[in-house]
Amino acid sequence: MKNIAVLASGEGTNLQAIMDAVDKGRIVGKIVLVISDVREARALVRAKAKEIKALFLNPKEYREREDYDRALVAELKREKVDLVVMAGFMRLLSSVMIDAFQGKIINIHPSLLPSFPGCEGVRQALDHGVKITGCTVHFVDEGLDTGPIIIQESVPVLQNDTVETLQQRIHSAEHRIYTRAIDLFCRNMIEVKGRRCFICEKER
Ligand code: GRF
Repeated sequence: MKNIAVLASGEGTNLQAIMDAVDKGRIVGKIVLVISDVREARALVRAKAKEIKALFLNPKEYREREDYDRALVAELKREKVDLVVMAGFMRLLSSVMIDAFQGKIINIHPSLLPSFPGCEGVRQALDHGVKITGCTVHFVDEGLDTGPIIIQESVPVLQNDTVETLQQRIHSAEHRIYTRAIDLFCRNMIEVKGRRCFICEKER
């Protein structure tokens, strides 16, 4: 069974969905660690409530991004982590993290990438006036939301949508595709060829 770590900076609804899916056996993996760069992150509270090791790593204690990532790597290695799940972690990872967990870091983004990467993907889509947006689970590389795409789900933009109402529907879709993608990873069912991810028919 694969050991999963979740990195989160905020509310942690994706973390909650992942923990619930693990409990229900819909993800064949174990969450061994949750790390946040924000002391008050609700994600840490949610992890503790499930008796999962929850750690606040303070960015102010590290001079460079690389130093912070070295500390992250050390914590993740200590718990023998096989998959790093970024769920609203508001830091760009450096090569220190990417190299240490090559092909083992995934992220969820609230738009249909490559449209609207970076901050405020939901607002960007609404302001642009697209009629369909959604969310994307992808592998993490050194770029900003640029790694190979694992799963996407579309969400229609409604006439009377605000950022909040649209975000709410995207969040529900995120919880569906993130848990699915994590389970596929844990079952070794994702094959990456260049930029393309293929979902295998059977566990490998
Ligand atoms: C999600 O919308 C995700 O797409 C983005 O950050 C948000 C995290 O939400 N990367 P939550 O903390 O899981 O509720």
